[in-house]
Parts: sequence; C-alpha cells; structure tokens
Amino acid sequence: MDKSRIIIAIDGYSSTGKSSFAKLIARKLGYIYVDTGAIYRAVTYFAYNCGFIDRKCRIKEEWLEKAISNIQITFRQTGPDGRSETYLNGTNVEKQIRTMEVSNKVSHISALPFVRRYVDDILRKLGESRGVVMDGRDIGTAVFPDAELKLFMTASAQVRAERRLKELHEKGGNESFEEVLKNIEERDHIDTTRKTAPLTQAPDAILLDNSNMTIDEQLVWLDGIMKERFSFGLFGEEIA
Ligand code: DC
Repeated sequence: MDKSRIIIAIDGYSSTGKSSFAKLIARKLGYIYVDTGAIYRAVTYFAYNCGFIDRKCRIKEEWLEKAISNIQITFRQTGPDGRSETYLNGTNVEKQIRTMEVSNKVSHISALPFVRRYVDDILRKLGESRGVVMDGRDIGTAVFPDAELKLFMTASAQVRAERRLKELHEKGGNESFEEVLKNIEERDHIDTTRKTAPLTQAPDAILLDNSNMTIDEQLVWLDGIMKERFSFGLFGEEIA
C-alpha cells in the first residue's frame, strides 16, 4: 500500500468548517475530497420533491426505501481548487441542497438506517483506493473505523451560527441569526441522539475546537500532527 495515500476522516458538529478544512487538506495532498453531508442532503431533496417527506418532517419511509436504489448521486469538479458540485440523477442540485428547507429535514432523513446503508455503500466505494479526505458525522466511527487519521471538529454553537449566517447571506439568503442557531442546535440534538451511527468522537480521533482559530492556524496545527505521525505533512516543500 502507498503509505502516502491514507484515509482522513473528519467528523464533527454542523457548521464547524469541516468541509472548507477538508477541501484545503485534499488540495494540499492531491487527495479526493468527499462531502458526505451533500449526499444526505441530495437524498433529502429527492425525498422532498417526491413528496416522501412533508414540511412537518413526516416521512413515507416505505416509499423512500423503494425509490432509493434508483437515485444516482455524483460529484463533478468545478475548477482546479478542488470544489465540486452535487448532481442528482444527472441534474446539478448544489444550490437546492443548501437551502434551509433541506437543512431543516436532513437530520430526519439521515437518521433512517436504510438511508445510512445506501450512503455508506457509496462512501466505501469512493474510499476504496484511499488518498481521500471525507467529512461527515460518522466517518471515523462507522464508515472507515480503520482510517489512519481521524479529526473531530467542534466550536461553540454561537460561533457556528454566525459563520453559517454569513455563508447564507453571501448566497443571497435573508435568514435570521435566531433561525440559524435554532437549526444548528436541533441538528446537533438529532445527530448526537439518533440510534444509528450517532455523532460521537471516536476514541482515536483528535479533537479540534476551532472557535478561536483561523483556517491557516488549523492547517499549521494539522501539519505538525501529520509530520509527527506520518512521513509527510501538508506543506510538501517543508519536508526535509
Ligand atoms: O455536513 P452537513 O451539514 O452538510 O450535513 C447535513 C446533515 O447530514 C447533518 O445534519 C447530518 C447528516 N450527516 C450524517 O448523518 N452523516 C454524515 N456522515 C454526514 C452528514
């Protein structure tokens, strides 16, 4: 096995900046980046469009279970910076899956065991050839318990809501801080208390609380850890 191609599992709470961090790490290492939340979001968008989940989050589980094997979720790279967009049955749904409408439902859909099995299959295939950074909620605990490097990211709910609000407003949204904070707290609760693969720190995951850290500080922190553990770090040119 190529020792420089490992699996990096990044789990943690909503809006802790997992995907921005994971994307940068993947770019520095020349790895594939997989946004596992986007897959759950695409399934949720599909379910909502088909009428399998309503505004009150009541789910027609049998219908969704029958339909799920026909859903095709793929990613297409949008540029050299490692960014990719999500496609559902060939249609770009990147914008649609980031709306509050989907955010309010996704934890309910992702708590269903058959949905998790469907997504896990996709993820394990994507990780087969290693050299991958995946961010999610159960990557280090359930999907790749043998990942060579596991991080668990957290930050205060206030800080996370502020970051999420900024992101949504930059995309033209007009959500209120209270609405976003409520959504984050609700998702924390559902994600940590669901029966199947709840969000929890794997015993061998390294905790990263980035409430007061910039992304550059986080990269330097991780580079130090990687150089200690592996024969390489994030900044190739610095390796002796
Ligand atoms: O990372 P995100 O906020 O886009 O994820 C959306 C939801 O998907 C999140 O509330 C929980 C769920 N999820 C999960 O259960 N397991 C994962 N590996 C990734 C996301």
